[in-house]
Amino acid sequence: MYEDEKRNSAMEALKYVHSNMKLGLGTGSTTKYFIDGLGELVKSGKITNITGVPTSLRTADLAQSYGIKIENNLEGIEIDFDGADEFDGNGNLIKGGGGALVREKIVAYNSRDVYIMADHSKFSERLHSFPLPVEILPFMENVTKKNIEKLGCDATFRDGKKFKSDNGNYILDCRFNFTDVTLEDKIKMIPGVVEVGIFHKITTKIFIGENNGCKIMNVKKS
Ligand code: 5RP
Repeated sequence: MYEDEKRNSAMEALKYVHSNMKLGLGTGSTTKYFIDGLGELVKSGKITNITGVPTSLRTADLAQSYGIKIENNLEGIEIDFDGADEFDGNGNLIKGGGGALVREKIVAYNSRDVYIMADHSKFSERLHSFPLPVEILPFMENVTKKNIEKLGCDATFRDGKKFKSDNGNYILDCRFNFTDVTLEDKIKMIPGVVEVGIFHKITTKIFIGENNGCKIMNVKKS
């Protein structure tokens, strides 16, 4: 769905890449358009000396298939390019629909700038439509789930526990009426929680794909 918008947002973001850059490489179908575009530029020699820090094993495989150099070293990442499941007007995000939220947050936090690419349907005045992904340890996981639910949500194990993240953990999809950003700290306080899919004060720009182009939202850092 919204494939043209996703592609347009990725192509606009790609204009910010030039030779000799170190980039964070996100995960998901929108980021795949970005990596495919970047890969073609690298393969043709139009852009050289790119290093990518991947946020998932599948992103690492995709980047390497184009000959993009991959490194698990966070130092000196100029721009992290990633997608989102939902964003609001302040640039807050919900991420983790692809189950890569832990590595995505580590890479985003350690990048100078974070550019998010998304189709227009991901925008909400208040974050509420996408169930909040939370990664938890596979130890006493039912207790961790109950403790998260006490904060006022219904939580389900992704694919009935069949889904495990690249880190070997479970993902809970948590349905709150409204995902207030303060929930990030409250959920992280619960033992067994590894990471929460709320990305607050991390985004620099959001590329919002449209049918025939792309709008850019610059996020004010407060
Ligand atoms: C993966 C993510 C993705 O960025 C998010 O799910 C958006 O994916 P897509 O571009 O396929 O809609 O957070 O963990």
